[in-house]
Amino acid sequence: MKLTLFGGKGGVGKTTCAAAAGLRSAQNQCPTLVICTDPAHSLADSLDQTVGGEIKPVKEVENLSAIEVNSKKALEEFKTQHEDEIKNILDTSTHLDDEDIDSMFQLPIPGMDELMGFKTIVDLIDEGKFERYIVDTAPTGHALRLLNSPYLIDDWIKVMAKMRWKYRYMVQSFSGKYTPDKSDDFLMSLKKTVKRIEKMLRNDSESEFVVVTIPEPMAILETERLLLELDEFGIAARRLIVNSVLESDGCEFCRERRKIQQEHIGRLKQRFNNLTIVPVPLQARPVVGMAALNRIMDYLPD
Ligand SMILES: Nc1ncnc2c1ncn2[C@@H]1O[C@H](COP(=O)(O)OP(=O)(O)O)[C@@H](O)[C@H]1O
Ligand SMILES: [Mg+2]
Repeated sequence: MKLTLFGGKGGVGKTTCAAAAGLRSAQNQCPTLVICTDPAHSLADSLDQTVGGEIKPVKEVENLSAIEVNSKKALEEFKTQHEDEIKNILDTSTHLDDEDIDSMFQLPIPGMDELMGFKTIVDLIDEGKFERYIVDTAPTGHALRLLNSPYLIDDWIKVMAKMRWKYRYMVQSFSGKYTPDKSDDFLMSLKKTVKRIEKMLRNDSESEFVVVTIPEPMAILETERLLLELDEFGIAARRLIVNSVLESDGCEFCRERRKIQQEHIGRLKQRFNNLTIVPVPLQARPVVGMAALNRIMDYLPD
C-alpha cells in the first residue's frame, strides 16, 4: 500500500495510529513519510519533536520522516501562482469590470483548500522519495471535505470551461482560429490533478483509508457515517481500528466499562462484518514519544 489515510472523529487516536503505523513501516525497512493535514498539528506532540512544513527526518528513527501540510497555505500559494489565468478567464468571458473580477477572485472556491492540501500530498508521492505515505487527516468533517473536494472542484472547472468555450467560440467565429492560452492550460492541468487524486483514492491496491474509532456510542455513530460516505466515494476501507479498549478488569468500575465497551465492539463487528476490526488497548498515559508509540505499533496491522 502506497498511501494510507487515517480518519475518524476528533480525539479518537488518528494521529497516534498514523504515527505508530509510520514507525512500524519504517522498522520494516520501508522509507516512510507521515503527513499531517490536521490544522491542529498534533503529530509533533505525538512524535514528541517538532514537525514543520518541510520534510524532516524523525529523530532516532531510521527510514521515517514527517511533514505538516497546511491546506490554507497551499491554497494561497495556488491562488498567487494562478491569479492571472483565473482572472483572464473571468475577464474574457464575463462583462465584469476589474473590481468585480477582483472580488470574484477573492471568493472562496468550495473544496479548493482541501484539494490543494491533497495536491501537495499527491505531489509528494509523485516525487517518489518514499515508498509509503501515511496521512493523519483532520477530524471527520474535514476528511470528508477532503474526499469530496475533487467533485466540488470538478463542478467549478466545468463552469470555468463553459465560460471559456463561449469565448473560444466567439474568437473562432471572428478570426477563424483559436489558439489555447495559459488559462486553457491552467484548466487542463487542474482537471488532470483532480483526476489523478480521484484515481489514486479509488485504486485500492494503491491506497487505503483506515478508520479509527473508540468503543463509545457517539464515536460509533460518526464512524458509521464516515464508512457510508467512503463507500459512496468508492474508497476502500478494510480495517477499523477500535482504540482505547479497556483491558483491565481488576475493579468493579473497570469490569462494568469493559462490558459496555465489548458490547459496542460486538455491535461494530456485526454492523461492519466486511471490515477487520483492530482493537488497540487503552494505555495508562497519553501516547507521546517513541517508546509509547512502539507499544501501540504492536497492535496495528502492517
Ligand atoms: N490507546 C490509547 N491509550 C491512551 N491514550 C491514547 C490512546 N490513543 C490515543 N491516546 C491519547 O489520546 C489523545 C488523542 O489522541 P490523538 O491521536 O491525538 O487523536 P486524534 O488525532 O484522533 O485527534 C492524545 O493525548 C493521545 O496520546
Ligand atoms: Mg490528530
